[in-house]
Formats: sequence, C-alpha cells, structure tokens
Amino acid sequence: MSEAAADDREVLASPAGEPAQFPLFSRWLHWVMAGLVVVMLFIGAGMMASLGDYRFLVSVHKPLGMGVLALAVIRLMYRLTHRAPPLPRSMNRTERRAATASECLLYGLMVAQPLVGWAMVSASDTPFELGGVHMPAIVPPDPGLYSALRETHAVFGYALFLLFTMHMLAVLAHALVLRDGLLTRMALWRRPRIRTAAPSRFSHRGKRREGSNAV
Ligand code: HEM
Repeated sequence: MSEAAADDREVLASPAGEPAQFPLFSRWLHWVMAGLVVVMLFIGAGMMASLGDYRFLVSVHKPLGMGVLALAVIRLMYRLTHRAPPLPRSMNRTERRAATASECLLYGLMVAQPLVGWAMVSASDTPFELGGVHMPAIVPPDPGLYSALRETHAVFGYALFLLFTMHMLAVLAHALVLRDGLLTRMALWRRPRIRTAAPSRFSHRGKRREGSNAV
C-alpha cells in the first residue's frame, strides 16, 4: 500500500477533534505496568524454579505486586472515565471484539492476580508488612484455602504470560505488517503529523504558501 493511502486510512481512523493517542498519563502507566508485570512473572518463575534466594525474591515480589495492584486500580478508573482513541479502520469487527476482550482480560488479571497473591499470603497466616505497615489479612487462615489460592496464582500467572505474549505479537503484526498506526496510540513519542484533505499551508516541503500568515 502506498504511503499516501496509509496516511488516508489513518486520517479516517481519527476523525477531527478526536485524540489519536491515549492521554500521556495512560501511556506512561501502560509502559511502567508492562515492565512491572514482566518483572513479576520472571520473579515468580524464579521463586518456583528455586533460582536465587527464595526469601529475597518473595520480599521483592510482594511489594512490587502490591504496586501493580495500586497502578492497575488507578489505570482502570482512568480508563473508565476517559475515552480511548478510535481503533484503526483496518481492523474488522471480529478483530475489534478480540482486542476489547483481551484488554478486559488483561485489566481483570492485573487486578485479580495481586489480590489472589495477597489472599494467599493471608490464608498462609504469615505476617505481611509493606513499608513497615502491617497489612490486614483479606481471608482467614486456612491451609485448604491457601493451597487453592496458590494453584489459582500459578494459573493466573500462566494466563497473564499467554495474554501478554499474544498482545505483543498482535501489536507487532500491526506495527510491522499492517502499518496502521495502532502502536502509535500507546507510544510514548508524539503521534507524527498526518496528511489531511485540508489544503496545506505549504505548497512544497519547507516553502510557505503565499498569503499564509500562520506560524
Ligand atoms: C501482577 C502481580 C503478580 C504477578 C504477575 C505474580 C506472579 C507470580 C507467579 C508467576 C508466581 C509463581 C507461581 C507458580 O508457578 O506456582 C508467583 C508466586 C508467588 N506470589 Fe505472586 N504475582 C503477583 C502478585 C503477588 C502479590 C501481590 C503477592 C503477595 C502480596 C504475591 C505473592 C506470591 C507468593 C508468596 C508466591 C510464592 C508462592 C509459593 O512459594 O508457593 N504475588 N507469583
């Protein structure tokens, strides 16, 4: 597809007045959380595979996980109160539904996984301190419940890893094959200027049109 056609498609995807990118706050949160979740999955796998000092890894895993919970709640509230930019027109209805479903699942898991971790620690009846503050138990101590929550935490960990990988592959396909500007919605850099049907102030690159007094 020609560059001009790709540009036109982008313009169609973002009608006048609609922001073509998520707000900067959402974009920062997105990348900080993406990094944190990957680190958490690695630490979790490291603990289970006895790579490194288990006690040390748990002591890092718990506060980071609670950080993910706090950020996920903030992000969810922000997302529910701010409109998302439109999806590229290149995506058909099925793809849009799949994208929305995977987004919902990711949000759900980013909130549920730390909560299950917290509940698991509560059920094990071990004290849980965060920055010197004693955290309350959110479920009663119970060995049976602990083992069920431990199992759930592991399953959610695999689910997060799977969803995360699918999410990355889909974004890569859009960025490298379809080139429809999907990644730009969440990129930290500013969205590049797009060509529109409106007459340009410049007749040629770098040359100002006669009569234009715009800066
Ligand atoms: C996004 C947040 C989190 C992610 C992605 C995550 C991921 C994981 C993973 C993949 C494992 C290994 C599970 C297995 O294979 O059995 C694990 C273990 C563990 N997680 Fe999390 N976790 C998160 C949050 C938390 C939180 C908030 C806590 C507690 C406050 C927590 C406590 C633990 C503990 C204690 C283990 C070790 C379980 C054991 O030794 O049996 N996690 N986590």
